[in-house]
Amino acid sequence: MYILGINTGLNSSVVLMKDNRVIFGIQEERLSKIKNQPGFPSLAINAALKHSGLKIEDVDIFAFGGKHSKIAQSRQDALNKFHSRYNAIKKKWFGSEESSFVKYLIKGMDKFQTIQKIAKGEIVKSLEDFLKEMGIMHKHKRYDHHYCHAASVYYGMKQRGDNSKYLVFSMDGGGDGRTSAVFIGENGKLTEIASSDAFSPACVYAHITYIMGFMPHEHEYKLMGLAPYAQPKYAKIAKDMLMQFVDFATDNPLVFTNGKKYPHVRNSRGDAKQELVEDLFKNTLNMRFDTLAAGLQLMAEDVAVRWIKAGVEKTGIRKVLLSGGFFMNVKANKLISELPELEFVNVFPSCGDETNAFGAAFLAYNDNKSSDNPDIEFEDFCLGIDATYDIEEAKQKYSDKVNFEYIQNINDKLVELLLQRKIVARASGCMEFGARALGNRSILASPDDIRIINKINAAIKKRDFWMPFAPAVLEDKLEAVVEVPESLRKVYSPYMMFTFNVKPQMQDKIIAGVHQADKTARAQTVNSRIYPEFYDIISKFEEQSGIPAVLNTSFNLHGYPIVLAACDAIDVYLNSEIDVLIVGNYLITKK
Ligand SMILES: [Fe+2]
Repeated sequence: MYILGINTGLNSSVVLMKDNRVIFGIQEERLSKIKNQPGFPSLAINAALKHSGLKIEDVDIFAFGGKHSKIAQSRQDALNKFHSRYNAIKKKWFGSEESSFVKYLIKGMDKFQTIQKIAKGEIVKSLEDFLKEMGIMHKHKRYDHHYCHAASVYYGMKQRGDNSKYLVFSMDGGGDGRTSAVFIGENGKLTEIASSDAFSPACVYAHITYIMGFMPHEHEYKLMGLAPYAQPKYAKIAKDMLMQFVDFATDNPLVFTNGKKYPHVRNSRGDAKQELVEDLFKNTLNMRFDTLAAGLQLMAEDVAVRWIKAGVEKTGIRKVLLSGGFFMNVKANKLISELPELEFVNVFPSCGDETNAFGAAFLAYNDNKSSDNPDIEFEDFCLGIDATYDIEEAKQKYSDKVNFEYIQNINDKLVELLLQRKIVARASGCMEFGARALGNRSILASPDDIRIINKINAAIKKRDFWMPFAPAVLEDKLEAVVEVPESLRKVYSPYMMFTFNVKPQMQDKIIAGVHQADKTARAQTVNSRIYPEFYDIISKFEEQSGIPAVLNTSFNLHGYPIVLAACDAIDVYLNSEIDVLIVGNYLITKK
């Protein structure tokens, strides 16, 4: 049985299941080159079919994450909702809608958007339109947004073969009219026990992200990264201000409300929410940027921790699974993982809406499985196109600009370059799904010299100056590098979904991968089972340097998605100051 799981929301995506395993997965952005591209993922569907040698009629079920019919046309679509809400507030306050700078920004985004065409009614298509065109209306199924988030992590990340009870939390900025839900998973079934349609902590996070001039539903991590730089006493004041907008229902601590002032607010209803948003905006005016980011993060951590604790207390279940865009917040995940109440915790890798394609596919598989069919097996997140699939094309296209040298023991060469303090881009094996580069589409460097941060930023990343890089650490050496909470001792963090306190004696050794303000690290724990090649590289690096970690950041130009394969990698290499590129077994250097 072939099932195609599809997300048509933000960061649209496709995963292909063959029976009980996911055999391919990719986000539309990797093919369209527009970061977080929403909409119907036509390119990704074609890539999945091409990869597996299937025709569209060979797919048994098309499973969609979300019950909605509306298809976003562009990234700008969602941003315009924020613009119009805040423009109305500015007009009320100041008599004019928009600053000239914001107008300039909106105009500057025209090349990425189809919004004008949408306004003219030229290209608006519903999900039904796409299904009819493809002739698959009779084969499609739709699953609730939060049910998909919960299903992705329950079927994907619970301990294999463990049919005991898990407590599953989903929280995000909204989907299918709800902003959170709590489930109990047991014996392969998910049962919902609570949900909210209030303006959730994730919604507050998105709005403050917008207020601070960043892209909501995308740049929240930048505020999280900024937060540790603020002065704690001021951060506490900002947190207290924000707490007036978020609360729990008096009769159910698993349900969010919006405090005493706005108990009637629902995220999907305009007028009442507009009052709250105006009040939120007013309260943040003239607040120092780092203070606001820190207060926001404190609020998010406090609410999330109380929510999880309430669930554990209410159900007695100590194994917790997390999904939904909120849990991209690795700092909140850290505090959750440190709760003594928890026996086990895991987060679905890259748990934004892109992974609802997994949830939908998993649910469709279970709906159609008989008692003889095996349970879902999932572990490896490297599900995309192989880096060398277009290497011959790349040789023809770029041979006048770069040298291609085939090296049998390429990992030895890579380590040699790292020890020479080179910045090495590596595109090898199948591309990782989701937000994180996990070694296969990564920029790697030695982590023990702080100067490498500026060097990488100048060469390619152009990251905001306060944002940290991350280390990839040998899983069997993890305890020597960071403090590992009890709840993570069974699976650790192979997908970079948690941060850890770095042990004082290791802070200098991996200094370039440590957050400079709070000495935490968003470590990827690398084992030989999921990542044999990357494990080999870090092991060899440790043999030479004594450091069981390398610096790992995603291989992409600033503002663009992670590179796809050889041609893409060489293109980015030529447009950056990266020292050396490795694609598969090829060492690629500029002529
Ligand atoms: Fe979501």
